[in-house]
Amino acid sequence: HPPKSQMEESSALRRANCRAKGGAPGFKVAILGAAGGIGQPLAMLMKMNPLVSVLHLYDVVNAPGVTADISHMDTGAVVRGFLGQQQLEAALTGMDLIIIPAGVPRKPGMTRDDLFKINAGIVRTLCEGIAKCCPRAIVNLISNPVNSTVPIAAEVFKKAGTYDPKRLLGVTMLDVVRANTFVAEVLGLDPRDVDVPVVGGHAGVTILPLLSQVKPPSSFTQEEISYLTDRIQNGGTEVVEAKAGAGSATLSMAYAAVKFADACLRGLRGDAGVIECAFVSSQVTELPFFASKVRLGRNGIEEVYSLGPLNEYERIGLEKAKKELAGSIEKGVSFIRS
Ligand code: NAD
Ligand code: LMR
Repeated sequence: HPPKSQMEESSALRRANCRAKGGAPGFKVAILGAAGGIGQPLAMLMKMNPLVSVLHLYDVVNAPGVTADISHMDTGAVVRGFLGQQQLEAALTGMDLIIIPAGVPRKPGMTRDDLFKINAGIVRTLCEGIAKCCPRAIVNLISNPVNSTVPIAAEVFKKAGTYDPKRLLGVTMLDVVRANTFVAEVLGLDPRDVDVPVVGGHAGVTILPLLSQVKPPSSFTQEEISYLTDRIQNGGTEVVEAKAGAGSATLSMAYAAVKFADACLRGLRGDAGVIECAFVSSQVTELPFFASKVRLGRNGIEEVYSLGPLNEYERIGLEKAKKELAGSIEKGVSFIRS
């Protein structure tokens, strides 16, 4: 008899192949940093996603434990674990979607940019692996500072000759999730019925909620606008302070990451009208990267939407956001170029 783990894997693979033959799409997804605060609940939620047939869990620590645990869930996806740099290539090969929450989180008093020193190198190494092993995969980049790590990833892919701007997305979904929650509270609505576009980037003043474009159409007092803008821009810091040294948002982030990854997979499947905000290569402003609504499809990003009409408050916010973003993007680009 083959060992139990091999038997389990081959029967799970048979199930996955069967599903694929039956027309049900099955995508192969890898999580890099899968044993972390975000990675673990993200792995659990992706194992529950019916669009996923194979789930690879990669980390430099504890990947076997998380994999053993998650693999006992009686859902369709086949789960495999990969530990350490020497298994990175195996983790990446054949994947359709790569989600990256690898890297250190903030402690109270730190900015996201303070994470650059450590996380820039981590993101570079992981993206070099992606360029080599799965250059056509869609990449969802969560590691902070997103405003710099996305330009880093783009430069790594350019260097390798594999860059496709349609396939690289910085995950800003948590800003939208928070905005929907906080705006719903003010309006007395169910957050599921609220849609707030959040554009710009993913740090402080670069997080720009467009309250004039909230759905359902709503009006706010100036006091509500200041309160909501400030709370949305500082939602991450609110969690960092509440966790008091134990890290930053992990559970709401895993929820947001899965919401975003699911949208990417529905796009890959060919669903129409899949639209989410993300930090992407962009011509919406003079900056090379910017977060705005994008339409997701079979090739990743099919369309990047312009910002629509902004009011005076938002136009001022946009100028502040662009100023800070320009520096963060440049910092990421020159990390690889110099
Ligand atoms: P964490 O420390 O709990 O987990 C990070 C994981 O990454 C760890 O398991 C660690 O072993 C792993 N890791 C480190 N180096 C690695 C490498 N070279 N290859 C693979 N894995 C590696 O941190 P967390 O709370 O999960 O946060 C992870 C990152 O996500 C942080 O940078 C944080 O700032 C960021 N974040 C982004 C958003 C967003 O909205 N985009 C939201 C929350 C957190
Ligand atoms: C967040 O918005 O929660 C993340 O970017 C983590 C952080 O450092 O705030």
